[in-house]
Amino acid sequence: SPNYENFILTKYTGFITDSSPLFGLDCEVCLTSMGKELTRISLVTEGGYCLIDELVKPDLKILDYFTSFTGITKEILNPVTTKLKDVQKLLRELLPPDAVLVGHCLDLDLRVLKMIHPYVIDTSLLYAGKQGRRFKLTFLARVILGKDIQCPNKLGRDGIEDARTALELVQYFLKYGPKKIAEFNLEALAANQEQGDKEGAAHMSVLKCLESMGQKLLFLTQDIDELSSYRNCQTIKCSSNKKVLEQARVEVPLFPFNIVEFSFQPFPPLFAEEMKNSMKTKWTQMSTVYAGPFSKDCNVGALKKVFSSLGPVQSITLVLETYRPYFSIQYEVLEAAQLALETMNGSLLEGSCIRVHRLVTELTLECDTLVRELEQDSENQGTIYVAGIGETFKEHLLEQSNLFPDLEAVILPKEVKSRKQKNYCFLMLLGRTLA
Ligand SMILES: *[C@@H]1O[C@H](CO)[C@@H](O)[C@H](O)[C@H]1NC(C)=O
Repeated sequence: SPNYENFILTKYTGFITDSSPLFGLDCEVCLTSMGKELTRISLVTEGGYCLIDELVKPDLKILDYFTSFTGITKEILNPVTTKLKDVQKLLRELLPPDAVLVGHCLDLDLRVLKMIHPYVIDTSLLYAGKQGRRFKLTFLARVILGKDIQCPNKLGRDGIEDARTALELVQYFLKYGPKKIAEFNLEALAANQEQGDKEGAAHMSVLKCLESMGQKLLFLTQDIDELSSYRNCQTIKCSSNKKVLEQARVEVPLFPFNIVEFSFQPFPPLFAEEMKNSMKTKWTQMSTVYAGPFSKDCNVGALKKVFSSLGPVQSITLVLETYRPYFSIQYEVLEAAQLALETMNGSLLEGSCIRVHRLVTELTLECDTLVRELEQDSENQGTIYVAGIGETFKEHLLEQSNLFPDLEAVILPKEVKSRKQKNYCFLMLLGRTLA
């Protein structure tokens, strides 16, 4: 630990036994210019009895109170006079020499306490998953103990509750042993829950934030009943997306802040898979051009070279069904196919005036429209595709920087395996000015 020389030792002896007492510990922190510093310490005994529950004021100016996690605000901490050294002294006096400290991610707690104690049980390690994956205390509390701690509608954490929960988790482990814990299959449960959390989490934290600022708001949604517990949040449950929209038209002007939520059923997995495959086929077809007719004795190598200069070629194949030779050229990027189409159609190549076109299938029927839309998309405007570049292109470009005064970035794709630079790049122009 940085600056550990200044850390304070507890009064530990060299001995612990099976009957050494456990103590649950939890600390809350804030941010100062020195990093994380202690703002609250909670210590409980094995029976859950609270020994210490103290607010602590750092010497340095606080940059962030982490209020949404800790519940601690400037107002709360203002009158506090307890300092870190008082807490260190108190802990030294209170903890018996064979005390075993218990907590969740205890290293962080000891770090902000700036104390050293050799006997610890960290529940994040005791219940660690595969490859040392650590689970959240709330998750372990719910799954192992069947307890809901840190409810979403309560602002900030309760240190005593966290300390008690860590203690109970250790007691549970000691009582039932690791085999019982393995039966819970924490990995699988956590994976399941993450899925569910992702859906609810986004607006929950927004709501929490607004609530803490005393912002009044209206929430229009099809589901989620529990939200009505937010004090300043009026929730209107609507029976359909259409109702949500209708209600929004009426209500939105009346509130300073609104959340309008539309629900969409995710696609069934089979359909999603099918759609992905058809997208892939479509993309491949759009990136493939047909060129010809050539004479029977044309130089295939030279042709390949010409078409490769427009972008990386996935494959070139001779079309066998035609009277005179044609080639089907599949490019890695759509831009290359488009460039071939726009520059090579009608050109004289190997003594033949060739045509370049795409295959027309049900997937490429509206290809032109799609390409135009992609070109006009604000994400793509100001992006220039450049093909046929050499290794030193970037250096040249830097020397000639006045050619593109608005140049913001150059994207130079590389081969995945060989890391060799490909023969094309994208120039991104500032302000998306030039298409
Ligand atoms: C290629 O050129 C021919 C005639 O020069 C034209 O009719 C055709 O539309 C062009 N095709 C494409 C895809 O631009």
